[in-house]
Formats: sequence, C-alpha cells, structure tokens
Amino acid sequence: MLLCLFYHKIKKNNSILTKIILKILLVIIMFKYRICRLCRLYPSMILLCLFSIFTIGCSKQNIPKTNTQTNVNEYLILVNKDHPLNDDYIPNNLVKVENVDYIQRENETMLINEETFYYYMLLYEDALKNDLDLTIFSAYRSYEKQNKIWQNNPNENYVARPGQSEHQTGLAIDISRRDIGLTSNFMFTNEYLYLKNNAHRFGFINRYPMDKEIITGYLFEPWHYRFVGVDIATEIYLNNITLEEYLA
Ligand code: DAL
Ligand code: ZN
Repeated sequence: MLLCLFYHKIKKNNSILTKIILKILLVIIMFKYRICRLCRLYPSMILLCLFSIFTIGCSKQNIPKTNTQTNVNEYLILVNKDHPLNDDYIPNNLVKVENVDYIQRENETMLINEETFYYYMLLYEDALKNDLDLTIFSAYRSYEKQNKIWQNNPNENYVARPGQSEHQTGLAIDISRRDIGLTSNFMFTNEYLYLKNNAHRFGFINRYPMDKEIITGYLFEPWHYRFVGVDIATEIYLNNITLEEYLA
C-alpha cells in the first residue's frame, strides 16, 4: 500500500529533486520492510528493483516540451536573405483587404494576414483622425508573384528574391501616399512622420530602417512595415533595433 502511494507520487511529481528524494525514501522503505530478503535469494531482483525505481517517472511524457516552432510566436517569423521561405509556403489566415484605401490592380485581390489587417485598420482610423492619408500598395505576395517582381526588377538593394520576401508571410505591408507611391520621397511627408512615431502602438515596425542596411540587407524603405504585435514592436521601437537584432 505504502509502496503504491510512493510509486504514484513519484510518477506525478514534476520536480526532479522531489523525485530523487522520493526514490531514495522508497529504497529505504524496501530495506526496512525486508523486501530485499527475497532479493538475497534471487540477486538479479536487486538490480531489477533498483532499475524500476530509478526509471519511474522518466518516461517521455514527463519530459518538458522544448520550444518547438508550434509554440514560438508566429508573428516573429524571420524572413530575409539568410532565412528564406519554401516556394510552397502559403499562410493559412489570409483575408481580403477592404474598407481602407488600397491600390486595386486588375485581376488581383489584395490579401493580408487577418490579425495584421485588424491592427492596420486601427492604425488607419487613427491616421484618418489626424487628417493623414495612408494607402496600402502591397500586402501578401505569393512566391510566384515575388518571382515576377524580381524578374522585372532584380535590384538586390530593394527587391527580395522569391522566397526571401516577408510579403510571402502576409505580415508585411507597403504603405505610402497615393500621390507619392513607393519612393523615398515618402520620408518627407507627415504620413511617414506619423508612422515613424506611432506604428509600434499598433504592432508594426519599419522593417528596413535608415542606417541598418548592413543588418537587414536592404536600403531604407520608409514604406515597408511588418506586424510583430504591440509589445514587441514597442520594444523594437524604443531600443531602435531591427527584427534581426531583436531575435539575435
Ligand atoms: N522590398 C522588400 C525587400 C521585398 O521585396 O520584400
Ligand atoms: Zn514591402
């Protein structure tokens, strides 16, 4: 009875130290109640008993799970020249961009990660209240779409090769003003100033900041924002670092 109680306590307990103490107590109890008299007759039983005691609670289900991809924050996925995505990577929670200003292209539906869009809409509403005029130029891009873009303009400084663009995650958005487009002139607008100082409040970071080209692999893109969630975006903003530096 007492032995059974100990057996279950050891199996259920999560602390390794408590397990060891319980196991030593179990061995003492075995000797005290002369269970080992039997062992003297059958010496191999000693080894068997000790082996059983010290392997209780060591089965696979009791080993704590390691930090696998499934429990890593999905908004922290790193995509760059050194960390490409497979050509068949398609995010599964894409929604249509609507109810905000965006560039509508022929035969094309603009898609984006659902939560990224939710937070973008909050940002968009806030910008509107401040009389600012934001337009989405690009959001999710498939591997094939990125391939076409790269083939049309194979410029290593601004364009990612297929598989190396974080637009393929659905978490990246190119935002600018309609009249300015994706040009460096965007950095001289109030809209850019607003994004620079407020994007983090809605979970976005400027992914390719000025003076961080060596780390990100791309020249300054005042229009390219990446959703990472409010807490992490705020930390990245306050420390003036890139996603690469945050994840290092
Ligand atoms: N402009 C960024 C690097 C891209 O093509 O994803
Ligand atoms: Zn972009």
